[in-house]
Amino acid sequence: MTNVLVTGGAGYIGSHACKVLAASGFTPVTFDNLCTGWQDAVKFGPFAQGDLLDRARLEEVFQEYKPVAVMHFAALSQVGESVSDPGLYWRNNVGGSLNLIEAATNAGCKNFVFSSTCATYGDQDGVTLTEDTAQMPINAYGASKRAVEDMLRNFELSHGLKHVIFRYFNVAGADPDGQVGEFHQPETHLIPLMLDAIEGKRDSLTVFGTDYDTPDGTCIRDYVHVVDLVEAHVKGLEWLLDGKEPAVFNLGTGSGFSVREVISHSGRVTNKHVPIIEGDRRAGDCTKLVSGSDRAVSELGWTPTRSTLEAMITDAWRWHQSGHYDK
Ligand SMILES: NC(=O)c1ccc[n+]([C@@H]2O[C@H](COP(=O)([O-])OP(=O)(O)OC[C@H]3O[C@@H](n4cnc5c(N)ncnc54)[C@H](O)[C@@H]3O)[C@@H](O)[C@H]2O)c1
Repeated sequence: MTNVLVTGGAGYIGSHACKVLAASGFTPVTFDNLCTGWQDAVKFGPFAQGDLLDRARLEEVFQEYKPVAVMHFAALSQVGESVSDPGLYWRNNVGGSLNLIEAATNAGCKNFVFSSTCATYGDQDGVTLTEDTAQMPINAYGASKRAVEDMLRNFELSHGLKHVIFRYFNVAGADPDGQVGEFHQPETHLIPLMLDAIEGKRDSLTVFGTDYDTPDGTCIRDYVHVVDLVEAHVKGLEWLLDGKEPAVFNLGTGSGFSVREVISHSGRVTNKHVPIIEGDRRAGDCTKLVSGSDRAVSELGWTPTRSTLEAMITDAWRWHQSGHYDK
């Protein structure tokens, strides 16, 4: 079997990636320190516990599993936390990625798929964000991801490290079979927070900022289903294994929904009332982030099939009600 090292494989997106990798004939080897992930989400291949900041442990894992490629999901990813503690983000996301990239190149593993983010574009109002849009992050989270993108380009020039960079927009939904799903603690993502409020697990959902320059005053985001997203990763891996050149792809749908639109849609899907309170803007939040994802469709052959608000909320709601969430 062909091993792929999946950093962050115990987390939300990484665990879904492990499932699709296993279904595609690869063995996903999860490397994770469980700082925000869950060991019981590692279901589709071996678990090598370790921290990206522990270079010796990384070298050991490359020696043991000899992966043909790395899928690098492991990172801290809370915008607000990155504003209050930027050092944490530079150390973990940039320092950790440097350790990983060096360990991979030393071990002769030259195929690398990287989770980047639309947060690298910053707050560019009214612009549909394509891969060629200038990257101007406004918080340490986005800056840390842009730095790793630069690092990959440097290592390609000097060490032939082939890479595919995916810049995700807002990832939502869950495995339709219910084997894995989203569970962050603390949760900061709109849809799971909203489902908590619907179920009475929290008193209400706070809408952060109602005075943005958008039709209903709330932020606009582009949502992509986690299953569609990880399927793009397998295509990215095959792209590299076919010997194609490094590439960057946005992963979104090109449709933006405001917070209020997502709330009213969720009320319809679940047939429940969503209790909300209106709060102040949150530090580091951009007004509108909507992708141009034509490149992933035309060049990578990506065909998202589940990225409607209805499918994302329905799958997330099923996962939410499954009890996995009540740890
Ligand atoms: N969820 C989204 O909407 C979204 C959007 C854009 C980009 N991303 C990126 O996708 C990736 C995965 O996000 P997620 O939502 O699955 O997050 P997550 O927190 O569920 O998963 C991240 C995983 O990485 C692990 N990790 C973190 N630091 C580590 C370290 N130093 N050593 C080893 N393991 C470590 C955590 O334990 C966790 O299992 C992240 O890189 C994130 O920046 C996510």
